[in-house]
Amino acid sequence: MADTFGDPKQLFGKPTPRIDGKAKVTGSARFASDEPVGNPAYAYLVTSRIAKGRVTAIKLDAAKAVPGVLDILTHGNVGGQAKPAKAADGGPNTPTLDSDQVMHDGQIVAVVIADTYEAAREAAGKVAVTYAAETPSATFGSKGVKVASHKSRSGKPFPKKGDAARAYRAAPVKVDARYSTPPQHHNAIELFTSTCEWDGDHLTVYEPTQAMWGSKAAIAAQLGLEPENVRVVGRYIGGAFGGKGANAYTAWVAIAAKRLNRPVKLVVTREQGFTVRSWRAETRQQVRISAGKDGRLTSFFHSGQEVTSRPSQYAVAGVEVTPRMYACPNIDTKVEVVHADRPTPGFMRAPAETPYFFGLESAMDELAWKLNMDPVELRRINDTRDDPVTGLPFSTRSLMQCYDAAAAKFGWSQRSAKPGSMTDADWLIGYGCATATYPANVAPAAARLTLTPDGKAVAAIAGHEMGTGAYTVVAITAAGALGIPVDKVKVLMGDSDLPPLTIGGGSNNAASKAHVVAKAAGEIRKRLAEAAVAANGPFKGLDPATLTLKDGKLLGPSGQTEDLKTAVSRVGSLVEVYAENNPEGLPPEAMANTYKGQTAMLRGGGRKDHSAFSFGAHFVEVRVHRLTREIRVPRVVSAFAGGTIINPLTAYSQYMGGVIWGLSAALFEATDLHQAQARYVNNDLAGYVIPVNADTPSIDVIMVDEPDNTTNPLGIKGIGEIGITGMNAAVANAVYHATGIRVRDLPIRPEKLLAHA
Ligand code: MOS
Repeated sequence: MADTFGDPKQLFGKPTPRIDGKAKVTGSARFASDEPVGNPAYAYLVTSRIAKGRVTAIKLDAAKAVPGVLDILTHGNVGGQAKPAKAADGGPNTPTLDSDQVMHDGQIVAVVIADTYEAAREAAGKVAVTYAAETPSATFGSKGVKVASHKSRSGKPFPKKGDAARAYRAAPVKVDARYSTPPQHHNAIELFTSTCEWDGDHLTVYEPTQAMWGSKAAIAAQLGLEPENVRVVGRYIGGAFGGKGANAYTAWVAIAAKRLNRPVKLVVTREQGFTVRSWRAETRQQVRISAGKDGRLTSFFHSGQEVTSRPSQYAVAGVEVTPRMYACPNIDTKVEVVHADRPTPGFMRAPAETPYFFGLESAMDELAWKLNMDPVELRRINDTRDDPVTGLPFSTRSLMQCYDAAAAKFGWSQRSAKPGSMTDADWLIGYGCATATYPANVAPAAARLTLTPDGKAVAAIAGHEMGTGAYTVVAITAAGALGIPVDKVKVLMGDSDLPPLTIGGGSNNAASKAHVVAKAAGEIRKRLAEAAVAANGPFKGLDPATLTLKDGKLLGPSGQTEDLKTAVSRVGSLVEVYAENNPEGLPPEAMANTYKGQTAMLRGGGRKDHSAFSFGAHFVEVRVHRLTREIRVPRVVSAFAGGTIINPLTAYSQYMGGVIWGLSAALFEATDLHQAQARYVNNDLAGYVIPVNADTPSIDVIMVDEPDNTTNPLGIKGIGEIGITGMNAAVANAVYHATGIRVRDLPIRPEKLLAHA
């Protein structure tokens, strides 16, 4: 292992400021739409005013009369020139300009291009579209929706074991409850954008995407180009969270740029972002859970329904994860999709776990109350070393260490168990807790690493800086493995001309990048060592495996050293390595598929000899006003065990950001739907409510130490998504403790508590 990976962990675990921090705060870090292109024209989308039907005519005269208008794309003049965009699961999607059919409100029906953004916007308002409208079906329970059973993402049947129905009937203590979660929309501060520029047959796309090579492949496929003729650049991304990957409009922006022989820039408005990109679908769930009087689970049933568009089968199917949390002999799960006249949903931070853990962790809390048991103890009694679904051991599982660490810091032992029994003047105080989890995923990747005699390195990988600290992770790994300071490493990312990395999703990128960069650095060490032992000098005749890189020197087993200038110059003006890493457990073609822009991830829940998940525990205090039912959350303490932590400074931010979003999901966030029109009505940041600083006073994150060399050689589990999971339930459980009111339908707003007052 030392030979393969050098000593990449040397700088892991030290809080390291972002190497791109200065660029970000001084404004020199560019979002994709800030990348300079020569004389761009500006695009503005025209979106449908109906949710279902057909476009019968589009009148362009008034729009074309606006000074500065250059072109207007419609189904009539460009339909068929690009293949339809695919949904996040690779399956069919709703149309854009490829059809006259309208399948959701806010569907792209025309693209106006003008010399200025203002002219394009004005003209877009003058595009007169007439429709043959039909009555749309909005959501669950609407007339005309179609319910269909869903196949699991893994292709395997949904988890099932023993006889859950029978065990449930026979059990002395049981909970049977229905939960629901609302639609949510991606509202990263950086808007959705695309800038396309042609050079002959070669297309460059400046776009915020969390899948550099994935977007390149998707755009090439849509436009019928060779992938090597497409380059995607997005060096800094202002938040992605699953929302920024391949999409439907880039192909049309590219076609517009071709028609005009001029770069075209599109910045999608905040409002349009609600309908032209993916989102988190609403769910309805049923959880039936039973236990013996001792609290041991005897049965677990979890079913979910999720809304999707008419053509798409996309579902997040969180029941593939929920039965793996606690020991239970009888398991039954299923998922159905409900086709409605809505855009196709897609990934949003912890896509499966976020909605489905609301059901699981609320039901566990309800069960604890029925058992008259401390909810932490209920988790302890049902803790397990083995994955209840597969029977395989967890690589590491530090769930109860997380509970114990967070409970101690929170002061859980001071809780008075009875609901409504803790008060402070007019405020009812409630304590709640819940489990967090996320699978540990790792993917194939390639990287180029260069070391020069002056002790400087350049690491190049088509990674994605979405605010996570991705550049810094690469620098820390390369610096540690090469034995040089972090500030001597320059990192190139955010460009599909660089060696491929898979989608920045599923919390895989830190692990995927670190392993390949470590491998490249290990190869550099090996080359320098082999040259050094063959030459006259301090290492002559030694075993090259005994030489390491440390403190800017090549170091021998008995303390001999040589500076990098000598060691590197011996092999050339620089030493450069191109490394590929295909994680053990993946088929060999996974690497080739990564070059094709496909996602070939080794998933923590689908491994052959173990299951790999991160775990965590949230503790939340809520205060509910006795009369107004205003809900405040003065403090949260969450503990996570995510394997090796590369940079505790950015890890803290990742965890904390997840906790805040979970709090948002619990109390604030929901997209409101006009039922008759199947239309989103709060499609801006005035109506789409998210927490501000005043809503999140104290969030304490504990990182539980968790050495793990089973998950992957460096023990990196990934931490991007776990923070949000379970938080919604922890808040709901605290609200129950404060008020005695169980809210099973998110978000928990004061009116839901007033209804019970
Ligand atoms: Mo994440 S929703 O896999 O970007």
